[in-house]
Amino acid sequence: MNPMVTIAVRAAREAGRVITRNFNRVDRLTIADKGKNDFVTEVDRNAEAAIIAVLRDKYPHHAILAEESGTHDGNEYQWIIDPLDGTTNFLHGLPQFAVSIALKVKGRLEIGVVYDPIKEEMYTASRGEGALVNDRKIRVSNRKTLDGALLGTGLPYRDFRFMENYMGMLKDLIQDTAGVRRPGSAALDFAYVASGITDGFWELGLSEWDFAAGALLVREAGGMVTDIAGGEKFLETGNVIAGGIKVHHAMLRRIQPHLDSKLTA
Ligand code: IPD
Ligand code: CA
Ligand code: CA
Repeated sequence: MNPMVTIAVRAAREAGRVITRNFNRVDRLTIADKGKNDFVTEVDRNAEAAIIAVLRDKYPHHAILAEESGTHDGNEYQWIIDPLDGTTNFLHGLPQFAVSIALKVKGRLEIGVVYDPIKEEMYTASRGEGALVNDRKIRVSNRKTLDGALLGTGLPYRDFRFMENYMGMLKDLIQDTAGVRRPGSAALDFAYVASGITDGFWELGLSEWDFAAGALLVREAGGMVTDIAGGEKFLETGNVIAGGIKVHHAMLRRIQPHLDSKLTA
């Protein structure tokens, strides 16, 4: 295994310990408002600090982009961290959240780790070496059509600029599939596509830390990840479609009529 995966796994476990220690003790936490429907607790901050401490100890010259503390300068290796993806679920006692850690080298995704500390599922990928959950190889589903497909998505909840576009996509995809789920952690949503639990996923307006690790998981599990127009700019735009190859294409075709320049720019 790539030694940097081992370190990222160690960092994810440290964060997981901070999170599980505090789960269901939300009444004792201080919750700050970062913006409309955007909350942060000391759990997010402490989990992030735990991750950064592990990474910085081993790789003091690497750069970091972390959701809560922003950018930390360094060399062409950049760690991208979401210490707690699914904070709203966490705050409500809904056990669906994850730690997400990715590594980009000269702008290219090299490592992705997504950890569900409740189910104790550790998803890992490194470029060219496939994707695993708890050391077991995973693959995207090989479903050929939307018929019978189970899709994941993220509903808009704090940025409503793309509401009309999104509702059009949802309406079409609901009618053509077996169902659409909104679990509430983009990192795990990608992990589920990578392991073939869901056949595809789409969301608008994500941040890079939500799904950088997840995107590599899906690609390494044999799936497709593109921006909403089928291009490569998914990390920049945050508008993304992922899935097995055939389902991804079918989703893209259903989504295309609902695009406009504000989504593809
Ligand atoms: C959120 C989750 C959610 C997605 C949001 C993200 P956070 O991350 O991934 O599923 O719909 O767009 O912001 O704020 O809980 O880290
Ligand atoms: Ca997130
Ligand atoms: Ca977060």
